[in-house]
Amino acid sequence: MINYVTAGESHGPQLTGILTGIPAGLTLDIDAINAGLSARQGGFGRGNRQQIEHDQVTVVGGLRHGVTLGSPLALTIQNRDHAHWAKIMNPTSPATPENTLRQVTRPRPGHADLVGGMKYGHRDLRNVLERSSARETAMRVAIGQICKQLLAQLDIHLVGYVQQIGQVKTDPQAGLDVADLEHAITQNDLRITDNTKVDEIHELITATRKAGDTLGGVIRVVATHVPAGLGSYTNWDTKLDGKLAAAVMGVNAMKGVEIGDGFAAAASHGSQVMDEIDWNAEDGWSRLTNHLGGFEGGMTNGMPIIVKAAMKPIPTLYKPLQSVDIATKEVKKASVERSDTTAIVPASIVVESVVAIELAKAITETFDGSNLERLKRTIAEYRDELQRY
Ligand SMILES: Cc1cc2nc3c(=O)[nH]c(=O)nc-3n(C[C@H](O)[C@H](O)[C@H](O)COP(=O)(O)O)c2cc1C
Repeated sequence: MINYVTAGESHGPQLTGILTGIPAGLTLDIDAINAGLSARQGGFGRGNRQQIEHDQVTVVGGLRHGVTLGSPLALTIQNRDHAHWAKIMNPTSPATPENTLRQVTRPRPGHADLVGGMKYGHRDLRNVLERSSARETAMRVAIGQICKQLLAQLDIHLVGYVQQIGQVKTDPQAGLDVADLEHAITQNDLRITDNTKVDEIHELITATRKAGDTLGGVIRVVATHVPAGLGSYTNWDTKLDGKLAAAVMGVNAMKGVEIGDGFAAAASHGSQVMDEIDWNAEDGWSRLTNHLGGFEGGMTNGMPIIVKAAMKPIPTLYKPLQSVDIATKEVKKASVERSDTTAIVPASIVVESVVAIELAKAITETFDGSNLERLKRTIAEYRDELQRY
């Protein structure tokens, strides 16, 4: 079964990831993983850290001659910025006045700084922010892009993109074809499908940056050709929509998750929300609409999965808000770390990646995932069986 763990601080030497449960026999496309990483670094509205980093994954375990062995995959991504922090973020040298410069004592509202310090007993909040920083999501993207490659082998495709930045909505009527969506979002630096909104959003982000403020937004993920029956209605903790929601909420700065029509469904009548059932000999079972975003009873129902995530604005403000210094207890302005004005563009790739991980996990929970060719045969047989149901 697929599982993963990441380690590493934002300005530490590197990020490390261990990914277990990927079937043997998957030829990894390292360039495609790196393309995901560089997409995570891009997007209008980012700070200048991205000019320093050029994220590239290195696979140091679980792969031989480019093909997965079925053993744990070990991944690393170097932090180039570590060169500027080599003393302060040295993992082994004992603390001295010289290598504990740049201490953080004025926690930023909305970041993990204060509660992280209280919980772990840190007096230098750098010990918190180095890990709560979204730098860690680079490794989640690398892992997610591997899972995406596995899903593609099973003819399951997905994409995450930006639907709203601040108050500007882009495509309320967006379609469901992953290839079309993927093409549309590469036409601009906002990962939006509607190019006519680009100038308006650029202006909004630029004005927000000049004001020392930040923005959030809404992300949409669409996954197609997911077989019915992943997840289970039999116990609360086996429901796949719940697991997806947890994974998406686990991405830094996410404050809301919707499946299908989500909160809007609450204000509709049942007749407007339930997706009527259809069948034909060629395609088998389907629904006439997809308000429920591909889930019934915590199980995929064979319709496209639609997940939306609400990202709050970035907590670090160049025009900082009130804080209290943890050393002196004086009211002060919050500290400022180099920061993005909005990270909705990279976040859309992170959210896509965690959805890919959860779907790959559900597949390998449901079917034997030891060997890719066997898994492909098993899923083909399963799809066949569902069609004949
Ligand atoms: C891709 C991405 C980039 C982010 N960049 C920043 C940033 O530059 N500055 C910042 O303060 N927060 C940034 N965040 C948000 C923080 O990581 C997040 O708010 C913080 O860890 C606290 O966690 P919470 O918001 O989930 O409660 C980013 C989030 C993501 C997903």
